[in-house]
Amino acid sequence: MSIPKLGVNIDHVATIRQARRTFEPDPVAAAALATLAGAEVITVHLREDRRHIQDRDVALLKQTVFSKLNLEMACSSEIVGIAVRTRPEQATLVPEKRQEVTTEGGLDVLKGGRPLAQGVRRLKEKGIIVSLFIAPDLAQIRASADLGADAVELHTGPYANARSGRAVARELARLVKGAEEARRLGMTVNAGHGLTYVNIRGLLLAIRVEELHIGHSIISRAVLVGMERAVREMCELIEKFSCTQ
Ligand code: PXP
Repeated sequence: MSIPKLGVNIDHVATIRQARRTFEPDPVAAAALATLAGAEVITVHLREDRRHIQDRDVALLKQTVFSKLNLEMACSSEIVGIAVRTRPEQATLVPEKRQEVTTEGGLDVLKGGRPLAQGVRRLKEKGIIVSLFIAPDLAQIRASADLGADAVELHTGPYANARSGRAVARELARLVKGAEEARRLGMTVNAGHGLTYVNIRGLLLAIRVEELHIGHSIISRAVLVGMERAVREMCELIEKFSCTQ
């Protein structure tokens, strides 16, 4: 197994731009710098309320990201329509609520019903890799495989938020078990949410994944030290702590 690829979520570059509804900073420029520094995936979440990433960003990123573009999205017919027209390499389906500050919880694949099945089918028909953002819950993982998902992104938020050693160990055990089951069912295993320069070490020592999707922590550091340095420092940690057996 190779070293996990770093996917940099650049939503919060757009958050700063949208604070003034101006043209800067441009997430398209941020994507180029992140790629130069070692990011192998660029992620953006086109939210239904367009609070940060805009349609124009997705269109330009499709033309300029030469590694892999991962579009995070709700399974709404409008956003699925944009995805099938734009054709990012990967679509990661997430639950979306208007009032949340960031994605809360994983997708409930068991209760997704026909709308979720149709969304997955429409994306797959266009050759887009479909990943489902879910809790490391065995029933959700099996339902994802039944739906034909190519990949799952295991929600690392509860691990990131765990405060006691016991809670950290419990969340890591759930992630390890979930990753094993997803892989056994033939799906690619990605992970993300709440990961930082501090908690990445414990995760990597415990679990093997294909892609790590990290946003807030990298963009926060980038504001102070620059995008390339922030991405390079995360790449160095991934390389240092990955369990490659
Ligand atoms: N993965 C998914 C599915 C997400 O929704 C988010 C947040 O946009 C991330 C990863 C990145 O999370 P964070 O910003 O906490 O690194």
